[in-house]
Amino acid sequence: MTTRRLVLARGAATIGAASVGLLLPQIARAQSSRIRVGFMLPYTGTFASLGVNIENGVRMAIDEKGGKLGGRDIEWFKVDDESEPSKGVENANRLVQRDKVDVLIGTVHSGVQMGIQRVARESGVLNLIPNAGVHAATRAQCAPNVFRTSFSNSQPTLALGKPMMDKGLKRTAWITWKYAAGDEAFEGFKDSYTKAGGTIVKELGLPFPQVEFQALLTEIASLRPDAVACFFAGAGAAKFIRDYAAAGLKDRIPLWGSGFLTEGVLDAAGPAAEGIMTTMHYSDSLDTARNKQFRTAFASKFRLQPDVYAVQGYDTGLLLAQGMATVKGDIGNKAALYKSLETQTIDSPRGKWSMSKSHNPVQDIYLRRVEKGENKVIGIAAKALADSGAGCRLG
Ligand code: PHB
Repeated sequence: MTTRRLVLARGAATIGAASVGLLLPQIARAQSSRIRVGFMLPYTGTFASLGVNIENGVRMAIDEKGGKLGGRDIEWFKVDDESEPSKGVENANRLVQRDKVDVLIGTVHSGVQMGIQRVARESGVLNLIPNAGVHAATRAQCAPNVFRTSFSNSQPTLALGKPMMDKGLKRTAWITWKYAAGDEAFEGFKDSYTKAGGTIVKELGLPFPQVEFQALLTEIASLRPDAVACFFAGAGAAKFIRDYAAAGLKDRIPLWGSGFLTEGVLDAAGPAAEGIMTTMHYSDSLDTARNKQFRTAFASKFRLQPDVYAVQGYDTGLLLAQGMATVKGDIGNKAALYKSLETQTIDSPRGKWSMSKSHNPVQDIYLRRVEKGENKVIGIAAKALADSGAGCRLG
């Protein structure tokens, strides 16, 4: 049969089916088929533990809501993106084209996110970003189908400069991995620190994910700044903290940073981490019933301590479950689903937050100090901080 005849024959069959009421069960069947959810996260390399805690967080939130999305069972898919930007598009397409996922949850690394962003914009598939803070994702390249549940790279450091100046630290050296996350964290730091009257004496960097810090630490020692501020995360952050202390800098030059520096690494870093000051949208020691209940449940379910990544994953699961409940599992009803994702308040362990117009959390940023192996909250460094969303034309 030619294609045209096939189409006509199918059309006739459909009309026939509709006229005898057979179409209804067919629609019901489509609705009750499983929702395909894909994780694209780092499961190897310096960010491996971040990927694991994000996935665990997502699963825990959905389990708490009954293990379904809008009444539909879930089929899970997974790709290890290795924090490798050159494979970002290819890996995103494994989930979108090969596995035909309805939702792509990913990722951690800003460079890899740019690959996901391209695939999400081209395919229209729903993308929930549980970490990567790259500005473009919710600024110039924002999209109706892309929502971030974590932070933008400059959000934590926009709250860093003032508390440093309040402590009389007027000359600071900055150090980071040289890629979007480090560069954009620096933008936030530079803005807040220079506005508060501080001077950045030097910008130091090394390529991601290198951890040969020695030469840079020697340079810091000879610069003798009042403080050092930085962006590092994951296993590389634990090594930086240990090397900083081993170089004899810990008791001479206070170490500050975007809070990822001390997330999920306090056991690995040991006493070298004591006293580090950071700004972040979460803290393990937040004294709220919501946070305590989350931490106890997560630790007993996974035998792992939750951190900011677990919280971001958990919030991603909450957002998705609540959105899918609104549309009763009809993920094809994009207008209603996106409206729901845009307007929810997330009752998070970090505190309640909502989405900005460009789909990034509006949230409090805490000032924290490492004490006895815990990130202790000192206060709120910025209240209801929103990313600028510059260049995004949504809403
Ligand atoms: C990023 O690449 O955007 C990134 C990675 C790890 C973090 C924070 C940001 O902890």
